[in-house]
Amino acid sequence: MFTNKIVILAIESSCDDTGASIIIDGKVKSNCIATQTIHDQYGGVIPEVASRQHQQNIVPVVDKAITEAGITLQDISAIAFTRGPGLLGSLLVGVSFAKALAMSLDIPLIEVHHMQAHILAHFAMDKKPEFPFLCLTVSGGHTQIVLVRDYLDMEILGQTIDDAAGEAFDKAGKLLGLPYPAGPHIDKLARNGKPVYSFPIPNIPELNFSFSGFKTSVLYFLQKNVQNNPNFIKENLENLCSSIQNTIIVILLKKLELAIKLHKVDTIAMAGGVSANSGLREALLQFGRTNHKKIFIPAFEYCTDNAAMIGITGYYKYLKGDFAELSVSPDPRMKM
Ligand code: KG4
Ligand code: ZN
Repeated sequence: MFTNKIVILAIESSCDDTGASIIIDGKVKSNCIATQTIHDQYGGVIPEVASRQHQQNIVPVVDKAITEAGITLQDISAIAFTRGPGLLGSLLVGVSFAKALAMSLDIPLIEVHHMQAHILAHFAMDKKPEFPFLCLTVSGGHTQIVLVRDYLDMEILGQTIDDAAGEAFDKAGKLLGLPYPAGPHIDKLARNGKPVYSFPIPNIPELNFSFSGFKTSVLYFLQKNVQNNPNFIKENLENLCSSIQNTIIVILLKKLELAIKLHKVDTIAMAGGVSANSGLREALLQFGRTNHKKIFIPAFEYCTDNAAMIGITGYYKYLKGDFAELSVSPDPRMKM
């Protein structure tokens, strides 16, 4: 039925979301996800639990993606999968599944770098950025400024030397007693608060970031105030969330501004789970208006982990004939 079309089945299993997607000729036909809420009670992702959950979810999620796209297994031209970076046990489930299915269908395999895919999520959208562009990639495990010259030609200009921006949200939120992952909770609470508290902005050279000092300063600030008033957090939760979010936004945009100055690029994009943050989205759009830059922010479903971004990346690798060996294995620390 789809003989003249490139049909990619994509699989994402790098952390705690099992995703499957069908991409036909570079367009998203289905994008299914099973989010693991089991980790919420532990305040973070438990690797072994995540891998067992992927094992349970992968077949139903792939089945759903195929059904929603209205195709059959025989229509698939290639299988793209996340090779890394990520949790070994989680990656293993997706990689093994992709290899076995590719072998049984006698079709090629395409390995995908998870962070490259976050950036290429922009090409799942109708409005696509033009090359070259700078991408601020902010997720639970990474914080990077990337110069994107072409679909598969990217250079990391700077990155975090310790915690990622998503981790800063999650760890600060944990100190406030918010559930994991705290990023979306802080986002929601911050809307009714004001950034009345200030935390120090780290002075890190060049285009690199640091968030570990920020987390410590939030901890000391809370300890000091809770000592004077045991209800301090409860009484000031919205303002605390607004202040935490505002500081993270200032840290991110300060470096982005420097990157633009150094690299003279007019198109700016944002990617990764933290780009779902409404305060950051608004601040970046405002930054674009003030500095006359074109700003690209993906739809929410393409910000956090999803398989459509893996499939879009897989599509561009397919066009280049960039296929993986059947002996490929996960690479938890995969370099971009
Ligand atoms: O990209 P992602 O889904 O997974 C990784 O590759 O890490 O990012 C997850 C991170 C978590 O730290 C989560 O708290 C954060 O993205 N996040 C947010 C929001 N939605 C997700 N942080 C702030 N505001 C949000 N609305
Ligand atoms: Zn991610």
